[in-house]
Amino acid sequence: MADKQSLPTGLQRLLESKIWGMLWSMLNTLWRMLKSSLKALFGFLERRILSVMSVFARILQDFLERRILGMVIAVALVLSVGGIVEIVPLFYLESTQEANRFPEIVWNRDNPGSQPIVTLDAEGQEQWNWQAGDGVRPYTALELAGRDVYQREGCYLCHSQQVRPFRDERERYGHYSLASESMFDHPFQWGSKRTGPDMARVGGKYSDEWHRQHLTAPRSVVPESVMPGYPWLAKRAVKGGRMKRHMRGLRAIGVPYNDADIDMAPNLVEGKTEMDAMIAYLQVLGTMAKLEPGIDYRQ
Ligand code: HEC
Repeated sequence: MADKQSLPTGLQRLLESKIWGMLWSMLNTLWRMLKSSLKALFGFLERRILSVMSVFARILQDFLERRILGMVIAVALVLSVGGIVEIVPLFYLESTQEANRFPEIVWNRDNPGSQPIVTLDAEGQEQWNWQAGDGVRPYTALELAGRDVYQREGCYLCHSQQVRPFRDERERYGHYSLASESMFDHPFQWGSKRTGPDMARVGGKYSDEWHRQHLTAPRSVVPESVMPGYPWLAKRAVKGGRMKRHMRGLRAIGVPYNDADIDMAPNLVEGKTEMDAMIAYLQVLGTMAKLEPGIDYRQ
């Protein structure tokens, strides 16, 4: 009992004694000495490194200013750093492809080996195994032919295919685009120029007949339009054999076509014009996946 009471008193004496103050001023002096010597050391190193670097910089600048090709390469290297730093991680991040977290974005075939996306019955009517909202799937032969024409005619020079996640864009075009929505596009058609409106969600916005009229003579439906007409598309036939080869090529780089899709290609495009193909392509844009407004797909 007596011991327990004397402890706090001992502690109090220690605090009151001068030892504490001495210890404090010693540590303080040590710290100041350390600080000033570190400062001197760093100052010395900095001067040394800077002077060596400035010699190198002068040599490099001298070299580049006399060699235009070297300058071009150096500028390209410096400018690409920002791009590389932003783009390269995307190849490794799981979240780049939203379908990793939301598998329902991508169409799941009941029978991947043999079920075609679309087939023709005995009467020549299309029989679909997929419908809008079932998820992202490869393009049918006809849509793919339309996409080829889209690229050949340079539609991407005036039309982007990418709704950005901004309120004004969402209100005008619909749900923002996901990377997974163009996973089977080789190459993608995101574009960077909007002379005309974005195309990413144009599917289902107009009737086929409207598109036919608009593509033939844009000003006959939109008087103030600056879009050129493409009347010749209605006169050119789509070639089935070419589509088969194209689909095999795409399969080689990972687009999941099965043999049935590829065998079906000539029958699907039989008797179709490039106009039909273009309309089939435009009408499917942005309709494949059913995206819910409440879900955050981009984390
Ligand atoms: C010179 C630029 C230009 C080119 C090239 C161009 N367009 Fe357009 N497009 C426009 C403009 C401007 C509009 C808006 C006025 C209108 O509807 O015609 C438009 C509108 C459209 C629309 C209606 C979109 C909407 O939401 O109302 C579609 C569909 C379309 N273009 C498809 C195409 C296709 C397919 C091609 C290639 C064969 C193409 N465009 C090439 C400029 C262009």
